[in-house]
Order: sequence, then structure tokens, then C-alpha cells
Amino acid sequence: MYHTSVMPLEVSQYLVNNMKGLYVDCTFGAGGHTFYLLNKFEKIKIIALDWDEAASNRFFELREGFNGKIVFARDNFRNIKSVLAGMKVNKIDGILADIGVSSKQFGDLKRGFSFNSNVLDMRMDKRNTLTAKEIINSYSSDDLADIFYKYGEERKSRQIADAIILRRRRGIISTALELRDIVCSVKRCDGRINPATKVFQALRIFVNDELGNLEALLSDVPKLLNQYGRIVLISFHSLEDRIIKQDFKKNVSDGIYKLLTKKVITVSKEEVYSNPRSRSAKIRVAEKVSNA
Ligand SMILES: C[S@@+](CC[C@H](N)C(=O)[O-])C[C@H]1O[C@@H](n2cnc3c(N)ncnc32)[C@H](O)[C@@H]1O
Repeated sequence: MYHTSVMPLEVSQYLVNNMKGLYVDCTFGAGGHTFYLLNKFEKIKIIALDWDEAASNRFFELREGFNGKIVFARDNFRNIKSVLAGMKVNKIDGILADIGVSSKQFGDLKRGFSFNSNVLDMRMDKRNTLTAKEIINSYSSDDLADIFYKYGEERKSRQIADAIILRRRRGIISTALELRDIVCSVKRCDGRINPATKVFQALRIFVNDELGNLEALLSDVPKLLNQYGRIVLISFHSLEDRIIKQDFKKNVSDGIYKLLTKKVITVSKEEVYSNPRSRSAKIRVAEKVSNA
């Protein structure tokens, strides 16, 4: 299953301010946003990034017809400065990041993102070495509880961590299904939302250092944008949204950004109906006003 892009129209309206500009899509994924933009604005160029091998393969399948308008780098967007320097690019007109997991990653049971996976992995970039399996089978109870609390805001983090340590005595925990069952031994498992959601979110964020990557990206963007260039960020949970909000606030008070979305943009009912995974998406946009 391929990924359906979130709010492509809104993204295009906010991002593109220079009809002949150079833009960066930090999270190419299935290429939905990139190709929407290239089709809508014929004269723009895009540098696309994604650290996932499947996204990279997808780029090479789809790039035909767009030669000279798009290049791709398989890299972590936290390295944006060095990626652009390697392409001899100093400044860009806009940057988009649609952070999180794509439907393709989520739906692939060999990646371990979903509850019914028969592995415990969760790496978006398989070149990295730390997996969810290693964390679950080797971290101390305190460290596990901290991860579940900090990145999942899981209130039963300590009990879940203790249940994992107890279960480890009976052998290695190797699948997402086993982990889900351990969480279900602590939390009631009869509600509408899967009770393991927070633990899985926490592990994924930790395995991929998602918040660290976002912070590193945000700190480099002001230097990379041309004056009137824009940053468009789509986030899916409150931890990311908080980081983005604070970064924008600081840059506004330093006279670097102007907020274009005083109120965060959320998905319409119609879009949630046709793409339920988009329901928690939030867009925030800022424009660089300083000419530094
Ligand atoms: C929600 S999907 C993006 C979907 C895309 N906008 C589209 O329209 O098809 C998120 C993508 O971001 C990538 N990603 C997440 N964190 C990343 C990082 N730090 N560096 C590079 N890519 C990252 C994931 O591998 C995934 O493919």
C-alpha cells in the first residue's frame, strides 16, 4: 500500500512563494508531495531527501519525466546542511517536512511498526544499528520506563517496564505481537484505541531519534532559507508539535520568522474520511523575514 499525502493543496499554497524557486522536501516518502508540487508549479526545482531505502527506490521508479527538476539524497534530514553543501547549494526558497512514518512503512510487517508485525525493529533507516528488539531485550526497567513515559506519555510506563523484565526471564521477546501482549497484561485491551499505541510510539521515536532529528533540522533552517522563504512542517503528535511551536516562537521573537499560521492547520473532515491516518496531522508554517 502506498502513502496518501496529507493536505497537499494547503502544503503547496503555503510553501511556494517563488514560482521559479528551489525547494527541499525533507521527507520524500512515496513522493506524493514532491510530485504534486512539481506538477502544479512547472518552473520550481526540488531536492528530495529520505533515509528509507524503500523511499529511495520509489524515487528512482518515479523520477522519469522530471529530469533536471529533482534530485534525491538518501540521508537523514538532520544532515541537511551538509547534503546541500555537497550539492553546492547555499540557499533555498522553502522547506517541507512531513514527519513520521509512511503508510508503506507502517503496512510492511517486516518493518515492525505495527502491532501485528512478526518482528521488532522500527528502524526507518536500516543502516542504523539500534532496533526496538535490542531496546526491549537489553535496557533496564528504569530506562524502559523513561522511554515509555517521555516519548509516549504512557502513565503505566513503570508497570509495563516491569512486565517486560519479568517476561524476559522466559526468553527473547522477538515480535511486536509479543510486546503488545505484554502491554495488554498491564493495561485493559478492550477499548477502541489499542492500549499499546503509546508504547509503540515511544519506541519508534526513540529508535529513530525523531525529536533529536527535528531539533537539528529546525536549528539549521533559518540559515538556509532565502528572505521570504518558507518552512512548512506537518507533525503527528504533541511532542513534535511542541518543539515546532517553540522554535517558531523563538525565531519570531528574534526577528527571523513571521508566523503564517497563527492557528495550526488541521485536516478537514472529508480528508480524514478518505485518509483516516491523516486525522492527527497539524501544519505550521513560518516565513523568513530577515535577510541574514
Ligand atoms: C509521512 S512520510 C512522508 C510522505 C510524503 N510526504 C508523501 O507525500 O509521500 C514520512 C517519511 O519521512 C521519512 N523520514 C522520517 N524521518 C526522517 C529523517 N530524519 N530523515 C529523512 N527522512 C525521514 C520516512 O522515512 C518517511 O518516508
